Amino acid sequence: MEAQDFELLIGQNIIQRYHSDSTRPDVFELLGREWDLLDDVWPPAYSPGGELYAHLIPFHEMSAFLEMGCGTGIMSVLAALAGTERVLGLDINPAAVRNTELNAKRHGVADRVTARVSDLYSAVEPGERFDGIYWNPPFLNAPADVVDSSIWHETMFDPAYAKMRHFLRAGRELLNPGGRAYLWFGEALGNPTLISDLADETGYELHVLTKIEMSEIPEALVDAFPGDLVGGDENEYAAWHLHLLELKPR
Ligand SMILES: C[S@@+](CC[C@H](N)C(=O)[O-])C[C@H]1O[C@@H](n2cnc3c(N)ncnc32)[C@H](O)[C@@H]1O
Repeated sequence: MEAQDFELLIGQNIIQRYHSDSTRPDVFELLGREWDLLDDVWPPAYSPGGELYAHLIPFHEMSAFLEMGCGTGIMSVLAALAGTERVLGLDINPAAVRNTELNAKRHGVADRVTARVSDLYSAVEPGERFDGIYWNPPFLNAPADVVDSSIWHETMFDPAYAKMRHFLRAGRELLNPGGRAYLWFGEALGNPTLISDLADETGYELHVLTKIEMSEIPEALVDAFPGDLVGGDENEYAAWHLHLLELKPR
């Protein structure tokens, strides 16, 4: 199977799994706190996320932080709780924007967290600048001709990593001097040099803050990964790692 078809299959399985999941809660617990989860917003419980390693991001040194694709807004809230004065969460999905507002309110940081509907940086206002920009992006490079603009395709797929390129390239222009971009990203199924190639192409120095060896598929996603493609050492697609990456403009 071609790598892109494999990534499409994984994404379709995760979407199907989401829609047939009758156990998804309205409120979930993570990092010792409770969080609201609205329908049609990526549930962080489906995959270990960058928020688990938020302590590696120097929020206390930042006065402004932007979370792209904020989803439930956990990272935005954590940034505000860690002392960042101005946090902006952006998402193409209006439900994610409402969800981020709810969680900011729930954790008492609504005065510091703003959320806007935005296609990548389209809702950033002229002159707004940030000390840190973060994204847990759509991981899967599915073929462009089968990807549409539905919320779940936007959440899962990034054909040829066009969104990721834009996030990095345009993000550079929005960073204050000394600012950094951060990514929570898989070593893409079967493409171990992807991120270093993209960092080179878009003009960043790459620093791996943490690398998680995924010897097991997260339990919540187990149905999404076809057993004959994932799980054996001999299988090229089995090499799945997750990273929190720091990217410093060159
Ligand atoms: C994998 S989810 C991560 C959600 C959340 N940050 C988290 O870690 O739980 C990717 C998020 O990116 C958002 N997204 C996808 N394409 C986008 C775009 N062009 N502009 C803004 N947000 C986008 C999706 O709506 C989704 O909320």
